[in-house]
Amino acid sequence: MPTQGMTAADFPVLPRHVGIIMDGNGRWAKKHKLAIAFGHRTGTETLREIIRHTDDLGIGSLSLYAFSTENWRRSDDEVAALMQLILDFFASEIDELDEKHVRITILGDKDRLPQRQRDTLIEAERRTGANTGLRLNIAINYGGRAELVRAARSLAEDARAGNLDPDAIDEDALAARLYTAGQPDVDLLIRTSGEMRLSNFLLWQCAYAEFIFPEKLWPDFTVADYDAALQEFARRSRRFGGR
Ligand code: IPE
Ligand code: IPE
Ligand code: MG
Repeated sequence: MPTQGMTAADFPVLPRHVGIIMDGNGRWAKKHKLAIAFGHRTGTETLREIIRHTDDLGIGSLSLYAFSTENWRRSDDEVAALMQLILDFFASEIDELDEKHVRITILGDKDRLPQRQRDTLIEAERRTGANTGLRLNIAINYGGRAELVRAARSLAEDARAGNLDPDAIDEDALAARLYTAGQPDVDLLIRTSGEMRLSNFLLWQCAYAEFIFPEKLWPDFTVADYDAALQEFARRSRRFGGR
């Protein structure tokens, strides 16, 4: 079934890179008197639609915040439910994503994840690594500060080994060591559920992002809501410090 929604020609300009903080699953579950895990599961339905529509519109990069370095603080049950959803999501989606030439990149430290999740994510990256379509970045065990520390450490190691002159370290050199290396900065950052904060997501990449905060909870967020955010983005005047 084709995704409902607008087409690329309906927008005077589209972002090259969209970031989404998929927030509100817990409140959605509570509102419907359902288990939290069901809120997260329903959220993956939204996720599927939004990925499809992003691909249909020809947007180059989509970064989704699925699990932060701080989300380990949740109950064991909730963390287990989220870990299971990671396996289920890739099992059900990887064939279609690969067929559509989507290239998957995991943002975050996979080493701290359980073995099965780690293997699944590594395999998804390997299988889609040469694809040239949508760049789909999924942030799992991701923190923006941790990403910057990792990049700084990598620069320092190369400097110590004598392969890098510290004077040659510039913004491009640092950006090249982020998980998003080679991709444009985030143009549009959407966070659902009315919360207005970054929660440690893509700190570097969002330096000049436009922010849009729809009130809807993530499981209720639709392709039409996404199109509305993209239209709002097209109306924004971006100056990057100039006139
Ligand atoms: C976002 O939904 C999904 C994850 C953090 C994994 P929440 O679970 O944070 O939803 P709220 O904020 O409690 O409503
Ligand atoms: C951010 O949402 C992480 C994800 C959406 C995966 P949280 O719900 O965890 O963020 P805080 O705790 O409200 O800042
Ligand atoms: Mg939340």
